Amino acid sequence: MIVPSQAKDRLIFALDFPDRERALSSVKQLNGLVGCFKVGLELFISEGPSVIDAIQELSDADIFLDLKLHDIPATMRGALRSAARHGVRFVTVHCQEGEVLSKTTEELSSAGLEILAVSVLTSLSGNDLQALGIQEGLTLSRLAVQRAVFAKEAGCAGVVCSGKEVSAIRQAVGDGLHLVVPGIRPEWSRLDKDDQSRITTPTEAIRDGADYLVVGRPIRKATDPKEAARKILDEIASALS
Ligand code: C5P
Repeated sequence: MIVPSQAKDRLIFALDFPDRERALSSVKQLNGLVGCFKVGLELFISEGPSVIDAIQELSDADIFLDLKLHDIPATMRGALRSAARHGVRFVTVHCQEGEVLSKTTEELSSAGLEILAVSVLTSLSGNDLQALGIQEGLTLSRLAVQRAVFAKEAGCAGVVCSGKEVSAIRQAVGDGLHLVVPGIRPEWSRLDKDDQSRITTPTEAIRDGADYLVVGRPIRKATDPKEAARKILDEIASALS
């Protein structure tokens, strides 16, 4: 597994926009400042796979297709094969069902697609676990570690996890798995309380062992998105040095 050495290559920007015009204008604005653009459900459902080609025409950055897939093995394999045809680098799947994961990842890693398993959504807090019917006594952190170990055994390239769990996961899985961390809130970002629950700053996440940071609103909602991206890159670079 290659861990990116440059701050830029560790920054993934979430293109959470409702249409291609806004998404592509953001790609033009941030091109060169981020290593990867993430296409999530909002943009993909609105614009379809052609938006991926349009991003690739504007930028050499990697593409992360964040559809958080969850289905029977045959359907997952089909969906992932289709994703591989679009030349994306990362794609997300849910991590709950072991059998499904191991049956889908085997053949796909060879197609150049890096499968990331979502461990526990960063919007969930400890109180949500019981409501989800998850075994009593299991903490969010232990659940995330369990799922990460499992994702590694199933052959995934990485896991998406909160910065709060990154250090425990790194200890459990060692170096062979990308740790991709959303829920990033720099100290200077003045966002009102939103749906994210287990948040960390870029510095905390990188120091604890994150390989990639996924950032949406702190850049998108900044008065100057380029400046916000640069500040995050500075934080990443200092945390790495
Ligand atoms: O705006 P914000 O920085 O919270 O954006 C985080 C991005 O990361 C969103 O696009 C969200 O879908 C994604 N994400 C997440 N938590 C996960 C997996 C992905 O927030 N566990």
